[in-house]
Amino acid sequence: MTKNVPVLPVILLVDDEPDLLSGLKRSFAKRLPDVKVVTASDGRKALDILAQQNIAVVLMDIMMSDMDGLETLDRIHNTLPKQTVVLMTGYGTIELAVNAIRRGAWDFVTKPLELDALTRILKKGLERSELLNENKNLRKKICSSGAVPEFIGQSATMQRLYETIQTSADSDYTTLIRGASGTGKELCARAIHNLSKRSAKPFVMVNCPAIPENLLESELFGYRKGAFTGADKNHIGLFAQADGGTICLDEIGDIPVNLQIKLLRVLQEQEIKPLGAETSSTVDVRIIASTNANLEQKIVEGTFRDDLFYRLEVLSLHMPSLVDIAEDIPLLANHFLKTAGSELNSSEKSFSETAMTPLLEHNWPGNIRELQNVIRRAVLFCPGPVIEKKHLVLGQSFPLSSSATPLEMDTIIRPYKAAKGECVDSFTRQYVHALLKESKGNISYAARLSQLTRAALQKILRRYDIDNDQYR
Ligand SMILES: Nc1ncnc2c1ncn2[C@@H]1O[C@H](COP(=O)(O)OP(=O)(O)OP(=O)(O)O)[C@@H](O)[C@H]1O
Ligand SMILES: [Mg+2]
Repeated sequence: MTKNVPVLPVILLVDDEPDLLSGLKRSFAKRLPDVKVVTASDGRKALDILAQQNIAVVLMDIMMSDMDGLETLDRIHNTLPKQTVVLMTGYGTIELAVNAIRRGAWDFVTKPLELDALTRILKKGLERSELLNENKNLRKKICSSGAVPEFIGQSATMQRLYETIQTSADSDYTTLIRGASGTGKELCARAIHNLSKRSAKPFVMVNCPAIPENLLESELFGYRKGAFTGADKNHIGLFAQADGGTICLDEIGDIPVNLQIKLLRVLQEQEIKPLGAETSSTVDVRIIASTNANLEQKIVEGTFRDDLFYRLEVLSLHMPSLVDIAEDIPLLANHFLKTAGSELNSSEKSFSETAMTPLLEHNWPGNIRELQNVIRRAVLFCPGPVIEKKHLVLGQSFPLSSSATPLEMDTIIRPYKAAKGECVDSFTRQYVHALLKESKGNISYAARLSQLTRAALQKILRRYDIDNDQYR
């Protein structure tokens, strides 16, 4: 029988004084017998060790030649944002240590070291790491059981997606979520936030194309009173609202190039400058961006900056199309049957034996959202308890009624230009109304159905003052 050998937690000591390293190592062997101690004589070696093995606590000197403790701390947290790091500092450098705590160090001790106090701090640090690890394992378990909140699907592709979502949630890296319309990009952004250490802080979703171009900058970064005519009080931007949490820039491909430059600065400096403000202020916001556009193509066309693209795509996540996870269709369909049932307050329904066949054969251009809508309609139109093939209306072309542009006689007899304008207005309103009804207010899907670009559709909505959210 094999016996489970317990894995000892590891403390990494980092200092460029070899005597201190060996002295501490000896002391810890006595004071912390259930801990393994490894040492590194500079920041770079420490980073190498951290890349190769799990370290429970890093105990590191601030003053080191070459790369100092603060820079090393930043680099550690770039890849391991939750790593427990205790810094050692001389008496004269307490201010530095306080600064280090602000930058994410977990605690600090002063030199000359007082071994009892140091041991107590390290024990607490070990406890913290253990707790974080337990949390992480728990979340991993939740993910691998396919239960990333609200995500349905057990195919291998979805399992891989859950793993990537978890990896993204464990880090603070900017993440680009790509995928066709209705594949669950927004759901994914929310899941990453909810599984991350920022979950208790705000999650702000920005539908970039829905905000008029001239307002996008002030909406994102805010403005000061008097910044422009009509700015009668300070306005907090969406980045500041998301401070401590996550902002998701939905349909990032649609933001104008001049704003892309400003966004790049936020990504580089983690600073925002409200319109009319003299100085920038720091924000702690994790950025997620999503798009169904071909950004590489946009880069070639000159409408998307490549430097922004590379900054956004530190981690990238691809949402599978529904046809690529066809084996999950029955699971998803049954899930939407339940949710539609409670949305519509209808009695419990089930699918007939043959009902699943057309769902499995359809090509789902609107992906999961389209499936959800097909099931909603079926629940609505099926009077009995069993949903049959005939209740599942698939691949419907856009229904435009023949009376969409009623040409009344009195309209015709008016001057041509005015009459035409009225007809076009009336047609557009009815068209957009039916389009948004069909797409449940989803702009990407509506753009696809109408074969308009999202930007063109947004322009029409603004011109006619139509709010797509009312159709959701
Ligand atoms: N795996 C899934 N399990 C359950 N529901 C899902 C899943 N994926 C997507 N959905 C649901 O499908 C709908 C569309 O998802 P979402 O809005 O996240 O897609 P999207 O990719 O952002 O779409 P668009 O590009 O049109 O904005 C939502 O109601 C969402 O809850
Ligand atoms: Mg979306």
